[in-house]
Amino acid sequence: MKVEEAIKNRRTLKVLAAEFAEVKDISTDVSRILEMGHSAPFHYINSKAQEKELTSLAPWRFYVLNGEACRKMASYFEENEIAGGKIIDMLKAAQTLIQVTWTPETVENDSLVSEAINIEHIAATSAAIQNMLLTATSLGYENYWSSGGMLKEEQLFTLLGIPLDEKLLGSIFLFDADTSAFKTKKGALRGRQGSIEKCTKKIKL
Ligand SMILES: Cc1cc2nc3c(=O)[nH]c(=O)nc-3n(C[C@H](O)[C@H](O)[C@H](O)COP(=O)(O)O)c2cc1C
Repeated sequence: MKVEEAIKNRRTLKVLAAEFAEVKDISTDVSRILEMGHSAPFHYINSKAQEKELTSLAPWRFYVLNGEACRKMASYFEENEIAGGKIIDMLKAAQTLIQVTWTPETVENDSLVSEAINIEHIAATSAAIQNMLLTATSLGYENYWSSGGMLKEEQLFTLLGIPLDEKLLGSIFLFDADTSAFKTKKGALRGRQGSIEKCTKKIKL
C-alpha cells in the first residue's frame, strides 16, 4: 500500500467484544509496526536513557501486550472491579495493545528549556504512533489510538512494569480486519476537520 493510500485508509475503529475473541499470533506484523514507529524523527535525546532498563536515546517507549496478555488484562480489570468501560471490551477483542509512553525531562531550575524539550518529545512520540497506525493500516489491521483511560493510571503502569516517571501518550489497539462478529464504533470526529482551506493560508509576500 502506498503511503497516501495508508493515510487515507487509516481510521479509528473501536472493536468491542463481549466474550474473549480468539487470539492470533501477529507477532511478525507487530515487529514491523514497532520498527516503523521507531523510525520516526526526534529532536532531543532522552537524557536519562542510560539509567533505565530501556536505553534508547529516543523519547518514546513501547510496551507490547499480545492477544493473550490483552485477555489477561481484561480479566484483571473485571476481577479487581476497575471501571474500564469500553477498554475492557477492546482488550477482549484486540490482537495486540501497544502502550506508548514518552519520557519527560525534569531539568531543575531550567523549566522553560525542559518544557520546550518535552513538547518536542511528545511531538516525536506522536510521529512514532502515526507511523505505527499507518503501518498497521497497510498490513490490514483495524486500529485505535486511545488516550488510555484507566490504562494511563499508576495501578496499571505498575502492573505492566512501566516506570512511573514516563507518561502515556497512547494506547494503541490492533484488531483483526474482520470485525463482523463484533460491535464496532468509529471515531466521533471522523471527517469533521472541514475542508483544507479552513486550516490553510497561503502567504504572499
Ligand atoms: C492523541 C489522540 C488521542 C485520542 N484519544 C481518544 C480517546 O481517548 N477516545 C476516543 O474515543 N478517541 C480518541 N482518539 C481518536 C479520535 O477520536 C479520532 O481520531 C477522531 O474521531 C477522528 O477519527 P479518525 O481517526 O477515524 O479520523 C484520539 C486521537 C488522538 C490523535
